[in-house]
Amino acid sequence: VIPPDIVAVSDYEAYARERLSDMTWAYLQAGAGDEHTVRRNVEAFSEILLKGRVLGSVAGGHTRLNLFGHLYEHPIFLAPVAYQKLFHPDGERATALGAAVTQTLMVLSTLSTVTLEEVAQAETAPPLWFQLYLQADHGVSLDLIHRAEREGYRALVITVDAAMAGVRNREQRAGFRLPPHLSAVNLPPVSAATPTASGHSRVFEGLMKAAPGWDDIEWVLSEARLPVILKGIMAPEDADHACRMGVHGLIVSNHGGRVLDTLPAAIEALPAIAAAVGGRVPILLDGGIRRGSDVFKALAFGASAVLIGRPYIQALAAAGPLGVAHAIRTLREELEVVMALSGTPTLDRIRAEHLSI
Ligand code: FNR
Repeated sequence: VIPPDIVAVSDYEAYARERLSDMTWAYLQAGAGDEHTVRRNVEAFSEILLKGRVLGSVAGGHTRLNLFGHLYEHPIFLAPVAYQKLFHPDGERATALGAAVTQTLMVLSTLSTVTLEEVAQAETAPPLWFQLYLQADHGVSLDLIHRAEREGYRALVITVDAAMAGVRNREQRAGFRLPPHLSAVNLPPVSAATPTASGHSRVFEGLMKAAPGWDDIEWVLSEARLPVILKGIMAPEDADHACRMGVHGLIVSNHGGRVLDTLPAAIEALPAIAAAVGGRVPILLDGGIRRGSDVFKALAFGASAVLIGRPYIQALAAAGPLGVAHAIRTLREELEVVMALSGTPTLDRIRAEHLSI
């Protein structure tokens, strides 16, 4: 059962901290550098004020939305998070169960510790999208795409903001290492990285050598039958480029502040990106969503839906599938309260005019 003092998703944090090792906690919470962006993602939401509207009728209200031809019960999705067996013995299977019972879309990471087949074939499976980290070998990427299509995943989310792993000092200080019994089971076993010759840049000659480019996105668009969504867009210029290329959706995200420190908060980047996109494709947002009011604000600025990362992982660590389901239900109910008190019975009615700006 859920402890009675857990009434908001942030209440899971202390419970998760108790259950996880110092190393795993550092991996979960860390951001790049000094973690300015991690904090800003959350704080920026509290700087945006609601307006509140009274006496309007919200009878018959609901939180349903249609995206890429599918109906979803509510706009709070689960962001891709790697290696979930770090947080619960059943890993992504446990998350999927919590998502299924709350009719929540789950985005499965390339770096999952349960295969994409096992997650999709569970008796109680949620709606699923697959997050793809493009692999240096197109053959490996193509195999992942075909497997996801075969298993009924509804979209491909290509994460484009982590061309190299973020330099997360908190994680380094804690000496984080993936335990030997865990691995990215969707991928073929990794071969040892080839060291770069001294005198060459570790960044430009090493880490970035096999990094994907726009031509690789073009290639995915030509190969995939599923809608292709780019995750990690922070610049209006990149958003426009992606739209012109024929990408089907965008996720405004700074990877929860885990890759490049001192980027603005995701919610701060959203208005200019929404303006550049001009309705050509749906936009989603993640980073710092901790309250239903945060969801409302993202939708008011032009997002169709949002994703949460750390909050559901903390709930997973604290209380397994039940925790995941409870965290989602809590956020969803908070969103409904804000909608009701803002006179917006449906998601499409939520506009910037419902904020005090
Ligand atoms: C992530 N994120 C991530 N993103 C992705 O595209 N593929 C991945 O494998 C991972 N892995 C991952 C692990 C951990 C531990 C965290 C915390 C995050 C980023 C994630 O999808 C999302 O962008 C952020 O977590 C959103 O920010 P909040 O909700 O954590 O503030």
